Amino acid sequence: PAGEKFASALLAWFDIHGRRHLPWQQQITPYRVWISEIMLQQTQVATVIPYYERFMQRFPDVRALAGADDDEVLHLWTGLGYYARARNLLKAARTIVAEHGGEFPETLDAVQALPGIGRSTAGAILAISKSQRHPILDGNVKRVLTRCFGIEGFPGETAVERELWSIADDCTPAERVAHYTQAIMDLGATVCVRSRPACVVCPMHEFCVARREGMQAILPTPKPR
Ligand code: ADE
Repeated sequence: PAGEKFASALLAWFDIHGRRHLPWQQQITPYRVWISEIMLQQTQVATVIPYYERFMQRFPDVRALAGADDDEVLHLWTGLGYYARARNLLKAARTIVAEHGGEFPETLDAVQALPGIGRSTAGAILAISKSQRHPILDGNVKRVLTRCFGIEGFPGETAVERELWSIADDCTPAERVAHYTQAIMDLGATVCVRSRPACVVCPMHEFCVARREGMQAILPTPKPR
């Protein structure tokens, strides 16, 4: 299938260009990946690193976080912005203690039920930390897939989004799913960027529909207005 070629090209690129020494890529646990994914949602890797290190020093596990008070969590978050993320982390940590005995849940449904964690983030956490095969579809991945597979229509629209989830699922490999998941996010963040994507160095160069048809600048289709 088309998805297999996509995954193997992406993994070959990741083996050369992927980052594998970030703090959350060491001593990988669902808790550590969860915190990193939430911090990385609206914030660049370089900005996140010192915040992540301080957060982990103070709250090394779910129970430490669940026992914190709001003020201390918000204080460690100061400067990262989008403070609802920090409030949801604390709520979720308390839920994990109350409903899961303090162990981070390991099923997609249970992870997705936690405050502040959507389907894509739940999939990313379990793929990266437990090598469970789940597709992801955040803003960066939507951009990569709409371009590579030439998917037109606003990706926030239900039918388009459904198609993208299906493509995301086709592309997600059974083997090396943790590396694959990190790789597709890295590709979207560093190569297949919104404006002026670096198509000449992209591992999808030969089979990207947008590249072939000169549609990089018009995909993903903007929100209709
Ligand atoms: N954005 C969200 N999650 C990310 C990750 N794991 N790596 C890079 N950027 C991201």
